[in-house]
Amino acid sequence: MRLVLLGAPGSGKGTQAQRLQAHFGVPQVSTGDLLREAVAAGSALGRAAKAVMDAGQLVADDTVLGIIRERLARPDADRGFILDGFPRTLAQADGLAALLRELGRPLDAVVLLDVDPDALTRRLTGRRSCRNCGRVFHLVSNPPPAGELCTSGAPHELFQRDDDREETIRARLEVYRERTQPLVEHYGRRGLLRRVDADGSLDEVQARLEAAIGRS
Ligand code: AP5
Repeated sequence: MRLVLLGAPGSGKGTQAQRLQAHFGVPQVSTGDLLREAVAAGSALGRAAKAVMDAGQLVADDTVLGIIRERLARPDADRGFILDGFPRTLAQADGLAALLRELGRPLDAVVLLDVDPDALTRRLTGRRSCRNCGRVFHLVSNPPPAGELCTSGAPHELFQRDDDREETIRARLEVYRERTQPLVEHYGRRGLLRRVDADGSLDEVQARLEAAIGRS
């Protein structure tokens, strides 16, 4: 399965990518997670990306395409991948198409997670993530089992992302509308787009997603 999950910040891409990864055994490839790992490692890439991410803007296309090229070359991506948060500009979509042509591994589908815009800010301000395993929770809709701790293995602390402050969320939503939303039409014209109503419980959205990609 070679899939792109498209959607606004907070639409549930990461949550559903983690579920699909567990269900189908193909890796979630999140450019946001890969960039946050670079920031945490203090690499030159991470230092350059941090200010851009904290401002809610997009990291340069060439940088992100380089990260994806490296990630898709790892053996676990041979069986497929779930791209989460990439591509998010037309230039990235073109770069991805060229890379996949070169690899002889075309996309199966691009799934748009459609959410009521009013719900997005609520989802993002209530999000908490595990420092250890990366699982994503929400204080109300998907609460961690042990208060503010994740319990996959030993209890681990949860944290709130730096870019989940309200003013940064506003900037991210605007960037999404201007730079990423054009991809809906782009992939629609190529016959790859599937729309999924992503309002509803996590299980309901997962079931709709699996129906949209024709697998369960
Ligand atoms: P990234 O990490 O990709 O952030 P994003 O696209 O803004 O998406 P989010 O991770 O915020 O949301 P999500 O859709 O994954 O939702 P989630 O499942 O967590 O990117 C961060 C930054 O990195 C960017 O701003 C940019 O600077 C940079 N970057 C990344 N990729 C880049 C690229 N390709 N090019 C350039 N720059 C790039 O869910 C959100 C919350 O809602 C959670 O709390 C969850 O529990 C809850 N939730 C999920 N589903 C439901 C539901 N059905 N009902 C109720 N609550 C739900």
